[in-house]
Amino acid sequence: MEIVLHTSPFSVSLGAELLALAKEIFTSLDEHKFFDRLARPDGLMAVAAKDGRLAGFKMGYRESDTTVYSWLGGVRPDFRGHGLGQRLMDAQHAHCRAHGYRYVKTKTMNRWRAMLILNLKNGFDITQTYLSANGEQKIILIKPLT
Ligand SMILES: CC(C)(COP(=O)(O)OP(=O)(O)OC[C@H]1O[C@@H](n2cnc3c(N)ncnc32)[C@H](O)[C@@H]1OP(=O)(O)O)[C@@H](O)C(=O)NCCC(=O)NCCS
Repeated sequence: MEIVLHTSPFSVSLGAELLALAKEIFTSLDEHKFFDRLARPDGLMAVAAKDGRLAGFKMGYRESDTTVYSWLGGVRPDFRGHGLGQRLMDAQHAHCRAHGYRYVKTKTMNRWRAMLILNLKNGFDITQTYLSANGEQKIILIKPLT
């Protein structure tokens, strides 16, 4: 399995492949928001692929001089449990460190429990929780990059 780190602008074909995978993982994906984030000029994307097929991704973008916001990520169900989520996170954090960022920030929810555990295991701290407009508990996490 190969992990590649892409920075924006992302190719149209990569965008289309990512959308297909993201829709498979997140059944209620907001497509407009997805392309909006993908079109940002400061994006970074760790992508895992095998034999030309996407197996997972982790997408983020610059939030400030010090901080990258890790927006969305996931691993195709049939590839889970083999360390790919960890490798995608490692690739993203290595890129952030190499580019002088000091923090990675992310947001999740209790129902994305595997990602919550993965984040906590990797040194993220919960810094805030709040109820979203549709009544879902959101969890903000920040990790200092040392
Ligand atoms: C979260 C996700 C990316 C993990 O991918 P993965 O490739 O299966 O993860 P890994 O195999 O690298 O697991 C790394 C660690 O994460 C934790 N973890 C992963 N899946 C877990 C699960 N189902 N339950 C508990 N812990 C889990 C474990 O600590 C694991 O380490 P271990 O295997 O040594 O115990 C994957 O489950 C996924 O795509 N989930 C749906 C999408 C999602 O939740 N996105 C986040 C929305 S904010």
